[in-house]
Amino acid sequence: MIQFSRKTGFLALAAAAAIGLPLLAQPASAAGDAVKPIQSEWSFQGVFGTYDRDALRRGYKVYKEVCAACHSAELVRFRNLMEPGGPEFSEGQVKALAADIVVIDGPDDRGEMFERPGEPKDRFPSPYPNSQAAAAAMGAPAPDLSVIAKARPDGVNYLHSLLVGYTEAPEGFDVLEGLHYNTYFPGHVLAMPAPLADGQVEYEDGTPNTVDQMARDVTNFLMWTAEPKLEQRHRLGFQVMIYLVLLSGFLWFAMRKVWSDQH
Ligand code: HEC
Repeated sequence: MIQFSRKTGFLALAAAAAIGLPLLAQPASAAGDAVKPIQSEWSFQGVFGTYDRDALRRGYKVYKEVCAACHSAELVRFRNLMEPGGPEFSEGQVKALAADIVVIDGPDDRGEMFERPGEPKDRFPSPYPNSQAAAAAMGAPAPDLSVIAKARPDGVNYLHSLLVGYTEAPEGFDVLEGLHYNTYFPGHVLAMPAPLADGQVEYEDGTPNTVDQMARDVTNFLMWTAEPKLEQRHRLGFQVMIYLVLLSGFLWFAMRKVWSDQH
């Protein structure tokens, strides 16, 4: 017979907590072997964190006009841009954005490939046909950016730092032809030239388009591409907390009742 004891009660609570708490956990941060990234506050952090829609929209513009020249983000489809919890562009806007690209589709009835304008269902385009072509063009393949914000230690702080971290190499530090010095890149030299310059991307909402601002905006955008369901997850985490509180209260009363009968 199973006895309902203090111990099983605590075990049940512990198990419920073990299932519920990871939902609230933030992406793990660990120190890389490079300089520690600049630590910033981000609207999406914390249990109640949400994305800043305007930052996501500006960040998409930076991604599209700058990063997409060299990087892909193959896990993202244009229609994701209108889903709740993201930049939330209108359907018309998304259709227009997708129609800007040319997609090679097919084969058609005669077995031939054909070109058509992009549609909301299409993935973000890749600037190179394959990673070898990308590596040949740049000296190193530019990684896909879909989940990069979660693929690096302290991801969002690292991304922002990397984008603002280009400086002259210190005296005596040898930077080979075609490589660039960056304070925050592990090992300090990488094949990506500084992608941002003040004033590069025009912002329609009047936000100053400094390198730091564009770096923050595109970081927000890339955090969303890496975790498009973050807002839903935070909401669920909160609901689980409420549930656990109610469950604890219920268990407490249940235990008192059971024990009071045992004297
Ligand atoms: C001119 C081409 C080019 C542009 C434009 C460019 N990148 Fe890169 N990027 C590269 C290449 C090449 C690499 C690989 C560097 C290496 O491994 O040495 C890279 C690497 C990266 C990395 C990985 C760094 C790491 O830790 O491995 C990130 C993150 C990144 N780029 C983000 C961006 C963002 C965000 C933008 C837009 C603001 C951007 N890039 C624009 C070419 C580019």
